[in-house]
Amino acid sequence: TPVLKVGLLGAGTVGSQVARVLLNHAHELALRSGVCLELSGVAVRNPQAPRDTELPAQLLTTDADAVIDAADVVVELTGGIEPTRTRVLRALNAGKSVITGNKALLAEHGRELHDAAAASGAQLSYEAAVAGAIPIVRPMRDSLAGDRVNRFLGIMNGTTNFILDQMDTTGAAFDDALAQAQELGYAEADPTADVEGHDAAAKAAVLASLAFHSTYTIADVHCVGITGITAQDVAAAREAGYVIKLLSVGERCGDGVNLRVNPVMIPRDHVLAGVHGAYNAVFVEAANAGSLMFYGQGAGGHPTASAVLGDLVSAARAIALGAQGIPLDAYAALPAVSMDDA
Ligand code: HSE
Repeated sequence: TPVLKVGLLGAGTVGSQVARVLLNHAHELALRSGVCLELSGVAVRNPQAPRDTELPAQLLTTDADAVIDAADVVVELTGGIEPTRTRVLRALNAGKSVITGNKALLAEHGRELHDAAAASGAQLSYEAAVAGAIPIVRPMRDSLAGDRVNRFLGIMNGTTNFILDQMDTTGAAFDDALAQAQELGYAEADPTADVEGHDAAAKAAVLASLAFHSTYTIADVHCVGITGITAQDVAAAREAGYVIKLLSVGERCGDGVNLRVNPVMIPRDHVLAGVHGAYNAVFVEAANAGSLMFYGQGAGGHPTASAVLGDLVSAARAIALGAQGIPLDAYAALPAVSMDDA
């Protein structure tokens, strides 16, 4: 079996789970991909830092460029704009497919990254960038490509949903709920991005670009976070039969598109009121498909790693079977394998 070297940038909450699956389930992944996915290097800021998964010391380095140059495929899970943008471009310009969960980067430089990928023939995949484990990027990009999406709306940030849910159900204070969300690995490295709505806004821009076939950036999203929501607000909403949720919305409006993130009072019998903890839900309305609903874990190491690994297997299949993509019968030819305790 041919070997595909996977270079991992970042071994934090999500990266360490991706590394764990690559190391512990190499055989199943190889059977599914048609190539051996070999973790060839892991670039981290501090090789000595404690992490969720013990990684072989010889894989760890602070030299991200060396990891990229030695790899066939790059998985970027460091976050942030620079130096990440430069590194992702380095990989794409060299024709190496990139899998990223970096919505902030995509929401600012998505056009540039897609252009670089198109120019070199590399793939750029980012299922993990929007709503964690929920398959929404690929459905929006591929499954609905022949339809006309009119609107999407939903809960796209796990941290703020967790905080609002804790405030609503247990009466927790904002700061305590945020600390718990950080502890559980839901929050961004800088949780300001979560609570100010910037993370949800970045996701809305990424999703809107796919839904409405144009380039939207985070600057196009009107954004209000939840830092102004007090325990009294939550209690008053509850009293009146509502629950406060941070919603992300993208909708066609005349000739344009309106994009926004803001806290909304939702009737308690509405289906979105039942989205608890760090779960996310996204509704999509399309001309022919009608209404679709996507629901699942929107944050956290394991769920987000699932989306990353799906992209990785998919990229590996395409590479294994030629850049044209896999003929349908090739999927059938892959043996059925289980991945117990994945
Ligand atoms: N901080 C993000 C969230 C992680 O809470 O939803 C998933 O993108």
